Amino acid sequence: MASSSWPENVGIRAIEVIFPSQYVDQTELEQFDGASTGKYTIGLGQAKMGFCSDREDVNSLCLTVVSRLLERHQIKHTEIGRLEVGTETIVDKSKSVKSVLMQLFAESGNTDIEGLDTTNACYGGTAALFNAANWIESSSWDGRYALAVCADIAVYAKGAARPTGGAGAIAMLVGPHAPLVLERGLRATHMEHAYDFYKPDLGSEYPVVDGKLSIQCYLSALDICYRLYRKKFEKQHPEQSGAGLDNFDAILFHTPFCKLVQKSVGRLSFNDFLLSSEDKRVEKFAGLERFSTATLEGSYFDRDVEKAFLTQSAEVFEAKTKKSLLLANQVGNMYTPSVYSGLVSLLIGVPAAQLVDKRIGVFSYGSGLAASMYSIKVTKDAAAFEQFVDKLAYVQPMLNSREKVVPEQFSSLMEVREKNNHAAPYTPTGSISALFPGTYYLKDVDALHRRTYERTPTISNGVH
Ligand code: CAA
Repeated sequence: MASSSWPENVGIRAIEVIFPSQYVDQTELEQFDGASTGKYTIGLGQAKMGFCSDREDVNSLCLTVVSRLLERHQIKHTEIGRLEVGTETIVDKSKSVKSVLMQLFAESGNTDIEGLDTTNACYGGTAALFNAANWIESSSWDGRYALAVCADIAVYAKGAARPTGGAGAIAMLVGPHAPLVLERGLRATHMEHAYDFYKPDLGSEYPVVDGKLSIQCYLSALDICYRLYRKKFEKQHPEQSGAGLDNFDAILFHTPFCKLVQKSVGRLSFNDFLLSSEDKRVEKFAGLERFSTATLEGSYFDRDVEKAFLTQSAEVFEAKTKKSLLLANQVGNMYTPSVYSGLVSLLIGVPAAQLVDKRIGVFSYGSGLAASMYSIKVTKDAAAFEQFVDKLAYVQPMLNSREKVVPEQFSSLMEVREKNNHAAPYTPTGSISALFPGTYYLKDVDALHRRTYERTPTISNGVH
């Protein structure tokens, strides 16, 4: 299958998302936590938060999402030549999630699958995707597809960060001639050492988080990646120099909570303002001249700058980003899958015809910290794109069919997870019947910490 020429249009050929079957309502959680009314829903922009009982862990989420993708798209197990996993919810310091996923390939006899796990907070999914695409474009490629998988269970100790939890998994089939092409030469990365959010207690699922610093790190990485992306873009497309945000038809962000994304669009507009010529400022940013001496470093928490550019970018947010926040608003922070849940939300929220041949900007951020901005070009082939998007018709009905759980029950399920994290031997007590059809779940953990999984019955044709 391998060809001697460079494969063309490498990118995402199929995408599958899963999220928990149970959620807690953020208005009810505000009351339960004694937070002021509107703090989680308006202040953070969150409506519902998906969560997993002790029946699900990162392995089960990945088993579920990979199985569903292969079934839905009728991909043979032997057609996969590389599988990468991005996660920060590790359950074993040595044995990779990828090795657990090899169970799915055993029957096919395909053990010739490269790739392992990558961990750096919420960035691992992007690292997995880049590694998958890089393999296809390398001399090691043998002509088969790659899979980039990302999954996490985002849980916080009781307190201010708890409402910014969530969970989910995404699998992406990567190959040439894709409907969503990763644009060559248009990746801008910023990595540095920071203690904004990290998980030093290996016995706990909870991170140590400096909320304010994490927001500053996110916004500063956004500034740096955006400016670098602009430079690379302008080198490739000198005729579009200075267009800034106008070069994107949609923009997706890692979404710890929706409000931060709205502010991030404002932040990009502030960058465009600072990078604009005098003429452009007058034309495009009328009334904002007083901010021309403002600095990036001095403005992370400057309310005047924030408000002015939130207002200035409101139309851009509505047109290019808002639709991408559906899953983030309804499920919460999925960590590594978060930004790709933004992609799924955009694909199901905007008529396919409107996205054909368009450019989607992507900002991926993982605390600690690692961040990239890159772009995806949607194929010109409207029929192929429509077929690709049609495969996501299950997402909205699946969201609608979730079960709401009261905060008291959510809180006690969190306590069960907390208490039994890494317990062995252990038999989970979470409900199996509450899970969606075709969901892998943890059956038990034996005295040697070996985990066994089973699957809830699939429906008729195995496609859910
Ligand atoms: N009605 C409306 N709005 C209200 C309100 C009410 N009754 N009460 C408060 N608010 C607003 C506040 O004004 C604030 O909004 P602004 O910043 O726009 O003013 C917002 O609600 C949140 O209130 P606080 O700032 O007081 O919230 P907090 O400090 O108690 O906690 C948090 C917020 C720091 C984000 C915390 O939830 C947290 O630590 N979360 C985890 C860390 C995180 O998500 N960081 C994001 C960047 S790091 C990253 O992206 C990686 C990752 O995934 C973790």
